[in-house]
Amino acid sequence: MKLKNKTILITGGSGGIGKIIAKKLAKDGNKLILVARKKNELKKIVNKLGNNHQYVVCDLSKAKSINKLITKLSKTLNKLDILFNVAGIGIYKNLENLTDKEWTQSLATNVTAPYRLIKGLLPLLKKSSKPLVVNIGSGAGTVGMKGRSAYVASKFALRGLSLTLSEEYKDQNLAFILITLGSILNSFGPLSLEEKIKLKKKGKAYFAPEWVVNKIIKITESKNPKKEYVLYPT
Ligand SMILES: NC(=O)c1ccc[n+]([C@@H]2O[C@H](COP(=O)([O-])OP(=O)(O)OC[C@H]3O[C@@H](n4cnc5c(N)ncnc54)[C@H](OP(=O)(O)O)[C@@H]3O)[C@@H](O)[C@H]2O)c1
Repeated sequence: MKLKNKTILITGGSGGIGKIIAKKLAKDGNKLILVARKKNELKKIVNKLGNNHQYVVCDLSKAKSINKLITKLSKTLNKLDILFNVAGIGIYKNLENLTDKEWTQSLATNVTAPYRLIKGLLPLLKKSSKPLVVNIGSGAGTVGMKGRSAYVASKFALRGLSLTLSEEYKDQNLAFILITLGSILNSFGPLSLEEKIKLKKKGKAYFAPEWVVNKIIKITESKNPKKEYVLYPT
């Protein structure tokens, strides 16, 4: 079912994945709200998307900033149809090199922010006729990976949150989808795009960003979505 006339919030709307999701959904009467920290990036993207769309600058690692976002949206929106929790950070470090700040920032951005947004935006989501929360997970949320404890812990926690809420809201009109993704050819995490292109030439498998976003949108359009989808590049 094509997404039409929906109000859609995309966190990480300026990032590799969020920006492409926004580009593909900014039509058919959909009204997008993009959220990230860098105002200039958001402004550039929203200007290209057109008049029906807006951005809100928010540091999702900070409760105060999220509360401001929720208050603003609660005053200006009648409903929210889809919340895409896409924003994330990938700090890959051995335990001994990892700082407390990096651990806290990873957990705050990758799992506490989705928790706070879901909870704070529930009243707006409940005003939609078919509300949906899409959480972008990772293969790192399914298996331990050396040198990535903060990222892995955050994505396991996000997976637990998403799967639990799909059970909790099963009998109510609110769906949760976790999309567990393998590596994508973009600049997420500690490696640059150029470094990933070199690894790809040596045989490492990466998703093309456009391809994976088309899959994400198809999943979002499902009439009866599953609680988890797992996509790995081959
Ligand atoms: N790319 C991959 O290989 C891959 C694989 C599996 C899963 N994933 C997941 O996919 C999601 C999107 O990744 P991506 O590839 O699009 O990464 P990306 O290009 O690095 O984009 C990350 C986005 O998150 C935003 N963000 C980060 N920290 C934030 C904060 N504190 N407050 C608000 N916004 C924040 C960034 O904007 P600002 O910097 O302006 O805040 C940016 O828009 C992440 O959750 C990631 O874990 C990615």
